[in-house]
Amino acid sequence: MAKAIKTIGVLTSGGDAPGMNAAIRAVVRKSLTNGVKVKGIKRGYQGLLNEEIIDMEARSVSDIIQRGGTILGTARCMEFKTEAGQQQGADICRKHGIDGLVVIGGDGSYMGAQALSRHGINTIGLPGTIDLDIACTDYTIGFDTAVNTAMQAIDKVRDTSSSHERCSIIEVMGRNAGYIALWCGVANGAEDILLPEKYDYNEQNIINNIINNRKRGKTHHLIINAEGIGHSTSMARRIEAATGVETRATILGYMQRGGSPTCKDRYYASIMGCLAADILCEGKTNRVIGYRGGKFVDFDIEEALAMQKDIPEYEYKISKLLAI
Ligand code: ADP
Ligand code: F6P
Repeated sequence: MAKAIKTIGVLTSGGDAPGMNAAIRAVVRKSLTNGVKVKGIKRGYQGLLNEEIIDMEARSVSDIIQRGGTILGTARCMEFKTEAGQQQGADICRKHGIDGLVVIGGDGSYMGAQALSRHGINTIGLPGTIDLDIACTDYTIGFDTAVNTAMQAIDKVRDTSSSHERCSIIEVMGRNAGYIALWCGVANGAEDILLPEKYDYNEQNIINNIINNRKRGKTHHLIINAEGIGHSTSMARRIEAATGVETRATILGYMQRGGSPTCKDRYYASIMGCLAADILCEGKTNRVIGYRGGKFVDFDIEEALAMQKDIPEYEYKISKLLAI
């Protein structure tokens, strides 16, 4: 029988994502309801190593469900990738009586959680990243807000691109993953969508596409380029020289990570945060929460990290043929 959890810690790590606050709120309030104390750890694993640890009550998470970013702050911490850093982190958890830890972040943060669990701290990972690149889950907290923010921005660029009869290359975030590019590409009706997973950056094809589309009467040409391919500015210069069509690059950047979370992000983050608290209180440990096949589920952290994810083939195919 697992030892009953008395205190749960919660931290956010890696790139922030809209909905992280809703997840923190749910972890805190569900844990308190379960009769467990909660401590918030500021600035991710860096804050853990610096012992930036605060008590959290129901009122500590008032008025945050609608706010972007994370009230706990986040950081990337190189020291935590070392054995010494991980041992120190586990010792600090024990010193503060934290016997269960909820880590909200991407798969890098999960690796930190996995390391802590090897050092005897019970951990649960929650998928918090705009990139949608965690293999065990169809949904990650922040993706929905980020794609909606990007989609609206791209609509605006499209307006001016049409008026000026230009080609626009718009670069969206996603690190090495192309999910934001795929979703926006389809939702914004882009003529070309460039995804790192598909190695489909072929400049001559794009140039031919622009020339053919001009002949067929299209007034603009929208290219959604994933950050994992990058180089949008130099690409624009070369495409303009080859086609004679004025071409501009827009890199959307950090605006995609901010802003008030959508209803979907608030809802999923709330359910997932509660599940994390419940699972820890039930004595299950070293798990990650996911959403798969229409259900909220949990996986062993090792298994989750070993899973692979790719752009679904059918979705990729139609992304190539809708903007004829
Ligand atoms: P994300 O969680 O969004 O994928 P990162 O990959 O930047 O973001 O990881 C966030 C943090 O998680 C890192 O700064 C580091 O502190 C921790 N981390 C990442 N990889 C490892 C690892 N292999 N071992 C331990 N901690 C890690
Ligand atoms: O993981 C979220 C994300 O915004 C990626 O899309 C991007 O590659 C990265 O974080 C940028 O991180 P930083 O804040 O360190 O520039």
